Amino acid sequence: MKKHSILALSVLAAAVLAGCASLPSSAELDKIAASYSKADFKDKGIVKAAVLQPEDINTLCTEAEVAGKPIDPDLALTLQAAQLKTIKWPADGNYMGDWKKGEKLAQSGRGQTWSDKADTPNGGNCYNCHRLSGKEISYGTIGPSLYQFRKNYGIEADPTGPAAKAMVEYAWGKIYNARAYNACSVMPRAVHKGIITEAQAKDLMALLLDPQSPVNQ
Ligand code: HEC
Repeated sequence: MKKHSILALSVLAAAVLAGCASLPSSAELDKIAASYSKADFKDKGIVKAAVLQPEDINTLCTEAEVAGKPIDPDLALTLQAAQLKTIKWPADGNYMGDWKKGEKLAQSGRGQTWSDKADTPNGGNCYNCHRLSGKEISYGTIGPSLYQFRKNYGIEADPTGPAAKAMVEYAWGKIYNARAYNACSVMPRAVHKGIITEAQAKDLMALLLDPQSPVNQ
């Protein structure tokens, strides 16, 4: 056993022996956890240990979760405004790629492992949380169903109208950086975090928006 693990265990053991009143505080436990990650997680291949450094937004969301109440609404708005600024909107106003590529991407959850090359494209992992194509029976339900996106998200009714335009922008923003609209969203900030490229995001947009896409069949 490594030295720091023995130390951490003896802190715990001492606390337990001394009775419940002196169990380590959550701050002390955080310190122990941090010492573990520092000692045990090393840069390897494309994966850098620095990803374990929490961003302020993550720390605030975790604190709110631990406290068991949602993040302060004003703070949430401030955080969302900062996240919204990270989004780049397609310069040519064209959001649509190829839905066939989008479907493959939505199905694939692989990538970002240490043995990947830096330029290996990652999957979008969308089916892990969303229903998309009506034919695919294996999907997660952490996020809302996106099946029949055109019909259910008000695009079909008036495809060139202002409501459809706003929805297209929202879908792009959501795929780019989900936290621009929900500070503590569990949806990965796919483009902002460099998980997928803008071209890949356009393929996912086509999966949601193209009338020929299996999402809209
Ligand atoms: C870890 C789960 C998770 C993954 C992976 C995920 N999402 Fe989401 N998504 C959510 C949740 C939860 C919401 C609901 C809003 C929120 O909490 O941010 C959401 C909302 C959305 C919305 C807006 C729908 C609405 O009703 O507001 C779109 C569009 C979307 N996701 C597309 C995608 C696409 C495309 C992918 C793949 C690149 C993806 N999501 C991956 C969890 C996920």
